[in-house]
Amino acid sequence: MTVVDDIKDRLDIVEIVGQTVKLRRTGKNYIGFCPFHSNTRTPAFVVFPETQTWRCFGQCNEGGDVFGYMMKREGWDFNEALRNLAERAGVTLVQHSPETEADGKARQDLSAVLEEAASFYRQQMLTTPVGNKALDYLHKRGLTDETIKVWGLGYAPGSWNALLDHLRLKNFQPDLMVEAGLMTERDDGSIYDRFRNRLMFPIRGPYGQLVGFGGRVLDPEDVPKYLNSPATVLFDKGRLLYGLDLARKSIRSLNQAVIVEGYMDVIGLHQAGFSNAVSPMGTALTEDQFRLIKRLTRNIVLALDPDAAGQNATLKGLETARKAMDQESEIRFDSRGLLRVEQHLNADIRVTALPGQKDPDEIVLEDPEAWRQIIANAKPVVVHVMETLAADQDLRDAKVKRDIAAQVMPLIDDVADAVEREAYRQQLATFLRVDERSLKSTRTDLAHTRRKKIESDQAEVIPASILSKPAQKNQKLERYLLHDLFLDPEGLFRLNKTLCNLGLDPIMESDFQNGDTLTGFRLITESLRQVDYTPVDYIEARMTPALEFEENPNLVEDHYAPTKEKRDQHQIRAVVRMRLNRLEDRLEEIKFLQSADVDSKTYTDEEVQFLYLELLQKRRLLDKALLAPEAGGSTRARGTSSIKSKSRNKA
Ligand code: UTP
Ligand code: MN
Repeated sequence: MTVVDDIKDRLDIVEIVGQTVKLRRTGKNYIGFCPFHSNTRTPAFVVFPETQTWRCFGQCNEGGDVFGYMMKREGWDFNEALRNLAERAGVTLVQHSPETEADGKARQDLSAVLEEAASFYRQQMLTTPVGNKALDYLHKRGLTDETIKVWGLGYAPGSWNALLDHLRLKNFQPDLMVEAGLMTERDDGSIYDRFRNRLMFPIRGPYGQLVGFGGRVLDPEDVPKYLNSPATVLFDKGRLLYGLDLARKSIRSLNQAVIVEGYMDVIGLHQAGFSNAVSPMGTALTEDQFRLIKRLTRNIVLALDPDAAGQNATLKGLETARKAMDQESEIRFDSRGLLRVEQHLNADIRVTALPGQKDPDEIVLEDPEAWRQIIANAKPVVVHVMETLAADQDLRDAKVKRDIAAQVMPLIDDVADAVEREAYRQQLATFLRVDERSLKSTRTDLAHTRRKKIESDQAEVIPASILSKPAQKNQKLERYLLHDLFLDPEGLFRLNKTLCNLGLDPIMESDFQNGDTLTGFRLITESLRQVDYTPVDYIEARMTPALEFEENPNLVEDHYAPTKEKRDQHQIRAVVRMRLNRLEDRLEEIKFLQSADVDSKTYTDEEVQFLYLELLQKRRLLDKALLAPEAGGSTRARGTSSIKSKSRNKA
């Protein structure tokens, strides 16, 4: 559920419209005078509580959701509407740029002191002799000056007050320095530099705001190896991923994210051109972190250190991993947890165990192609576990087989999708060279209870409120369409051409009934009108979390390389379905307008009759379009060749 959904769910459009428009209840719906055009004769403005939408049947002939309503009424842009409605709904907006935040000022102050520290650390590295040693170290590890600059790396001098003195000179308050996690407080209340004699990695939020630091030792005697910022208002390790601000664009366009373990790995990979890499900061991966990625892609590859991947692959390892969760060291490989996240988020999580004892940054420095191979060889979680368990075992040994089956079967039983589950079961059988039926029969009862348990777990996470309001039929379709167009804005031209060939209108603002999707569509048309940036860059620069729509899950069969043709077909279908749904809604609305309850009719009977026929005709055209090959319709079905040529003629 996006924040927009959450807000819509908590607000009632009837109440919001009712604050400025006098509404009268008629049947299920509410009717009043349209606030957007002057007419006091016939009330033509209707609010539909069931779909949480509004529409003016008079002069405006416009409608939408609560966001669209507020944008139109107040002249707000989408972000203003979002901020205002979020506050009304009591929804906190996480992850947005500091200026949209209610306590934006405090955050800005924190960011400012952190930025000052970052530039101090950088100066220290470039201009002092000890700093230069740190710089040499980075060079030795293969980083270029350009990379060092892009990532803002620096050096914290081995002094208790170097940064403190510098920040004092710049008039920052000591309290703020502590709050930002840059200083530590002594018992007597005095403060000192937290980071000393360390290589400094600025850590940024998903949109580039500086939130903290990671500091690596230079003296091998020092502990811990990496010292991170303490938890602060801005720095919440479980909700951040290192490198995400710089990886976003490429994660979107490659439709894949790679999670590695360390700061140096992320930087090294980006330098080598694999800029879809991110890492956690020494703690176990959280569902929140997967969610951050999920906004950009559903395809996630975990590149794990072989020890972590291997030892913890077993369920036994999982128990110890749970216990050791707080200890900072490596990504905890928790196969059960990953499967759960995968299902919760409808993601595709794959795992790859790195060969040998080398970290990704070393591998890619030696041979970029090797890295590409490693990523291409990533396996679904279940398969990864299977292979790891079997790694140094004698698979001819019946006991070994039984042992592996006993550990893998519960995982397979957790997979929600029946087809996938069956495929894994077969794979395991082939792998162990046993009869598949023997696998089934051993665990049926257990599997059953376990699945039951999962179902009840999942029931818990779905808030009851979700069920309270029916989601608008079109919302999903509009979002899928925009997800694709954000990645390929010029695709809009292609799409319009196909629509035209099918005798249909090009895509327009009125196709989008929701405030967020309407805003997204405007962003696309804007991006195509301006000439200063590529459309994709223009969009990326204006991206906000509320506009990070998900990919159409129907495209996932070959999601790593969905053909352009297939994407186009899905887009056409989405548009046609959107329009059909809207037609259905409008037919319903017209029926309502004519219902006995409404005394002052907006339209004459002839007008309604005409409108009705017009809609029916449009519907016929849309129905036909769905069967056209351009929309992936089967050419064999129902003699579509004639339909195809007919709709062509209409163009
Ligand atoms: P590693 O110990 O694998 O270090 O920790 P690394 O990233 O390979 O670093 P180099 O290559 O030796 O310089 C992996 C990650 O775990 C976190 C850091 O984010 C680190 O990048 N970590 C590690 C901590 O937060 N604290 C620690 O004490 C150690
Ligand atoms: Mn390393």
